[in-house]
Amino acid sequence: MNAQTKRTLALIGIVGLLATATITIVVHAQQEKVSSSYGPTNQDMTFEQIKAARLAVKAQRAKEHMDLLNSRYALARKTTSEVAMSGGKPVPVGPTAKLSGVTWAQLDKMAPDQIKEKGLFPYKPLPFADHAEGGMLFPAMTLKLLPRLTRFDLDFDLPEHVLPDPAPAIYLTTRPDLGDVAKGRIITINNYYEIFNGILNPKQLEGLRLLVTQFPQQQFNATEDRRTDRPDGVLGVTCLDCHVNGHTNGANHLVGDIRPQEFRHRIETPTLRGVNIQRLFGSQRALKTVEDFTEFEQRAAYFDGDISMAIKKGVNVLDRGSQVHFMAEFLAILDFPPAPKLDIYGALESAKATPAELRGEAIFNGRARCASCHPAPYYTDNSLHDLKAERFYKQELVNGMMMAHDGLIKTFPLRGIKDSPPYLHDGRCFTLEDTVEYFNLVQQLHLTAQEKMDLVAFLRSL
Ligand code: HEC
Ligand code: HEC
Repeated sequence: MNAQTKRTLALIGIVGLLATATITIVVHAQQEKVSSSYGPTNQDMTFEQIKAARLAVKAQRAKEHMDLLNSRYALARKTTSEVAMSGGKPVPVGPTAKLSGVTWAQLDKMAPDQIKEKGLFPYKPLPFADHAEGGMLFPAMTLKLLPRLTRFDLDFDLPEHVLPDPAPAIYLTTRPDLGDVAKGRIITINNYYEIFNGILNPKQLEGLRLLVTQFPQQQFNATEDRRTDRPDGVLGVTCLDCHVNGHTNGANHLVGDIRPQEFRHRIETPTLRGVNIQRLFGSQRALKTVEDFTEFEQRAAYFDGDISMAIKKGVNVLDRGSQVHFMAEFLAILDFPPAPKLDIYGALESAKATPAELRGEAIFNGRARCASCHPAPYYTDNSLHDLKAERFYKQELVNGMMMAHDGLIKTFPLRGIKDSPPYLHDGRCFTLEDTVEYFNLVQQLHLTAQEKMDLVAFLRSL
């Protein structure tokens, strides 16, 4: 071997070592993916490439999520003809949560630790349809009316019978004499003026126009990483796409203010009926006014709380002194649906109520202590509470979501509650029966089967 060959071999050896080291570093970096607070604003892929990558995982992610839903819930349609939502849709009946190897009565006798140890808690946090991906997701019943909201990469997950009316009723505090103003129509930019001109003042009318006007949002905009094919989709979403007719269609999203992604909560669109009597807004953020929420929703929540993404995708900054106030003034006249059995204190009138409803009210105010957080007349204390549901389950990763604490969550009002399934901030309780089972466990109430039925009867009357 001459000196030249030796040098060449040594060089090959060094290059080899370097290559191995580089591969090790790359593999290592892939394994320990650093989590960033920011989304990828500087894309180096085209729309077609991003779309192909999303479509490549679509079927598998959908299957994993449906397997999870099927393991946790009975998804077959079950409704009652005894009571309907204000718009006429039948109310879903539960409990829909599946128990594995125990009855509700047996579960009721177990301590939180035991339930946690055996993995038996039926109401763990609900992951988003593709939790690693997130974004706004609209139910099929809404897509039928507003096809521009279709995402190419993700289908809605919950069955339609556990969602609100597709075109919910609108009641105005200013004109109760009119009853439902929407009358089965869905309010959009195409019809808002003819329906509301002469009913609203010009300020409220302009507020409503802004509430039905599309503005860019994370998945619906003109950039390469949008999730819509439709040219009218790139214009964005409107407030009433989710809060349809001022109520909700069960569209969902991930909360913007938690990182990393697996700790973010799925959030179900809340109704905007009755925001006038509420003092805190957002299930977890506790913004102090409807004006704050209206302003901030489009500025940051639309973009996952990522202000740099908002700038890239086309944030619409509303003028606080005029536009925000106009929108909030319309929102502030959205009334709860009529509850003909309640008196001026929000209590049942005994002459109008059934025995089951009256028994349910007594349990609600008495032994079950629901009223300590949900006092009449609107059945909210306008506060936040930590229900510590994590006493009942282990912190583990499920389909890209950490089964972690919920933390402080706002007490949603229970007026008109039968109109807005699914329940809780993430929609994990599909029916009122499920919410009663949930609180029976969380509060350790040990209610009887009859008491649970009575409570549901009372909730339906609100
Ligand atoms: C995904 C569809 C979606 C769109 C579009 C949307 N929202 Fe919301 N909205 C939500 C969700 C989900 C929440 C709950 C947020 C939370 O829990 O932090 C919410 C909460 C609110 C609240 C607080 C309600 C409460 O009970 O605390 C107000 C007010 C509100 N939105 C107004 C608006 C306005 C105004 C717009 C348009 C600028 C808008 N929303 C657009 C889904 C949507
Ligand atoms: C310690 C306070 C507290 C008590 C006691 C309490 N709740 Fe709640 N309630 C809450 C909070 C907070 C939420 C929201 C929880 C969430 O979204 O995760 C809630 C949500 C609900 C919801 C769903 C509301 C919606 O819009 O999705 C129903 C129904 C409900 N409670 C009924 C009851 C009943 C019935 C009882 C008594 C058996 C009860 N609650 C006891 C605080 C309480």
